[in-house]
Amino acid sequence: MSHSPVIPFRVPGAVLCAVTGFPVSHSRSPFIHRAFAEQFGLPLQYERVEVRPGLLSSTLAELRELGCRGVNVTVPLKEEAAALATQASVAVQATGAANTLWWSADDALCADNTDGVGLVRDLTRNWGMSLNGHRLAILGAGGAAAGVIPPLFAAGVAGIVLINRSEARAEALVERFQSLGALSTLQPTGRVASPVDLIINATSAGLSGNTPTFPSTLLSPATHCYDMFYASTLTPFLAACRASAGCTELRDGMGMLVEQAAAAFTLWHGLEPATSVVLSALRAR
Ligand code: ATR
Repeated sequence: MSHSPVIPFRVPGAVLCAVTGFPVSHSRSPFIHRAFAEQFGLPLQYERVEVRPGLLSSTLAELRELGCRGVNVTVPLKEEAAALATQASVAVQATGAANTLWWSADDALCADNTDGVGLVRDLTRNWGMSLNGHRLAILGAGGAAAGVIPPLFAAGVAGIVLINRSEARAEALVERFQSLGALSTLQPTGRVASPVDLIINATSAGLSGNTPTFPSTLLSPATHCYDMFYASTLTPFLAACRASAGCTELRDGMGMLVEQAAAAFTLWHGLEPATSVVLSALRAR
């Protein structure tokens, strides 16, 4: 049996996968992937591996040596993962970030970014939203926002307005993605003529218990409000939408987390897991 500082104990006969991040102890990915594997009777060993920024390459080499099939990547290593890949998907090329890695038969490091497809699936399949022709607002202009803009346009949204604390970052995303569809910026204290159908919080403000500033004119009581951040109670952003405009269609990012994991699971194992039962189990924890 193989031993290593990265994976101290190898389960005999199990397929090995891992999630890397810094920190990584909070990651729900082991719970989600093990639940998916159970659906198929797949013997899976899925481990958390804490990796300091800059050390992903050597950790990946060690995981590969142990026969690892797939690696998830979380904050703050997604850009590092994209840079290491020798075969990067269109989503990785568009965003410069990867959350799913694996090796081809000839040992090339392959990378995909399933965050965007995870969001779109959670919105459309789980929440029942039609995105086609709808107007959206996205709060934030970091990696999380960049990752979801291409798949949202691909799903048929009519236009996206970006609101970010530092306007220059929002302008940079417009420059990068304007060929995909109607994309514009708005200042956090600006005004819009009519409310949007869907507002998405893609800032990291929730991590520190904050809500980003945004124009209240974006909201009507019918606006769907989605927070990519998730929590065991209503997130500060969703609570603010309900308080300021009486919005009732509120959803956090736990479904996106499960859907991005399902897309990674399919890439690695060629199996499509049922997600709603795993999402319910995760929420019940
Ligand atoms: P990620 O990869 O999660 O997107 P990031 O690239 O660091 O992380 O981007 C974080 C985003 O959250 C940015 O849009 C940031 O705004 P700035 O570009 O102005 O820094 C936004 N953000 C973080 N904390 C915020 C807060 N308290 N209020 C508003 N926006 C916030």
